[in-house]
Amino acid sequence: MSQQSATPAPKHGLLAGKVAVITGVGAAETIGAVTAGLFVEEGARVVATDISGAQNETAAEIGPAAVPFQADITSEEQVAALFAFALDTYGRVDILVNVAGVPGSRRTPEITVEEYEAISSTHLLGTLLTNKHAVRAMAPTGGGAIVNFSSAASFNIDERISPAYSAAKSGVNSLTKSFAVHHGGQGVRVNAVAPGFTLSKKNTRVPAEALAQLSGKAALGRPGTPQEQAQVAAFLASDRASFLTGVVIPVDGGWTARLA
Ligand SMILES: NC(=O)c1ccc[n+]([C@@H]2O[C@H](COP(=O)([O-])OP(=O)(O)OC[C@H]3O[C@@H](n4cnc5c(N)ncnc54)[C@H](O)[C@@H]3O)[C@@H](O)[C@H]2O)c1
Repeated sequence: MSQQSATPAPKHGLLAGKVAVITGVGAAETIGAVTAGLFVEEGARVVATDISGAQNETAAEIGPAAVPFQADITSEEQVAALFAFALDTYGRVDILVNVAGVPGSRRTPEITVEEYEAISSTHLLGTLLTNKHAVRAMAPTGGGAIVNFSSAASFNIDERISPAYSAAKSGVNSLTKSFAVHHGGQGVRVNAVAPGFTLSKKNTRVPAEALAQLSGKAALGRPGTPQEQAQVAAFLASDRASFLTGVVIPVDGGWTARLA
């Protein structure tokens, strides 16, 4: 066991005593970084992972209950190494939150094979591999909870959103249900959060006109915050959601409730 396992398990909070692997923990104000911070506040110990290297600074800011690990979720070798590291560090894995994703910016006429492949592999292969290795890590201790990040764009179509992104996120919903059905017997619950337009770091750079249009889509008339996405992920990962599995929850301020 490594030195970090000496970090005591916090006794209070929604996720007290849980060990969570969280992907997509990029720079501050990405949904993954905010999720990692909230999970630690709620009593979890976290392995914070990202492809970019930003997980190192983010984990340092969160404190000793967050340990960084660099991995590309489309590489099975790296995903296996991530879960081996989590088991070596903390001795168990109770939770996976798979937040990592890439946005799709190009519409139908401009989309390229390269962009389709990058979007598909990150969302589909990345979800498949992280969920597969999470189940392997969780099963020996009686199970756990997986939360995948889908999108409101997985349900219906908006002209501003890449078709490859919408299709890949629909696939994330299907994988979520598949893993829930295949592994419920091992005590593993698998659900997804489907965010609507959310002011994560990258979306703070959206031009004012597009910001107003996207915010106006929500019944609540405003964008969501990374914290609002993280709170739902924390609930789904917690024992309070003990009879919830195989569902995809829109966290979109009512965007998908509209007829158009
Ligand atoms: N922000 C929104 O409005 C919104 C809406 C719907 C869905 N989502 C989904 O929520 C999730 C987080 O959104 P965000 O706005 O924080 O995104 P973001 O692009 O700011 O952060 C995503 C993180 O994933 C990491 N990543 C990308 N590819 C990876 C790979 N192969 N392996 C490991 N890490 C990788 C990136 O380095 C980055 O740090 C994504 O899955 C996104 O599709 C976001």
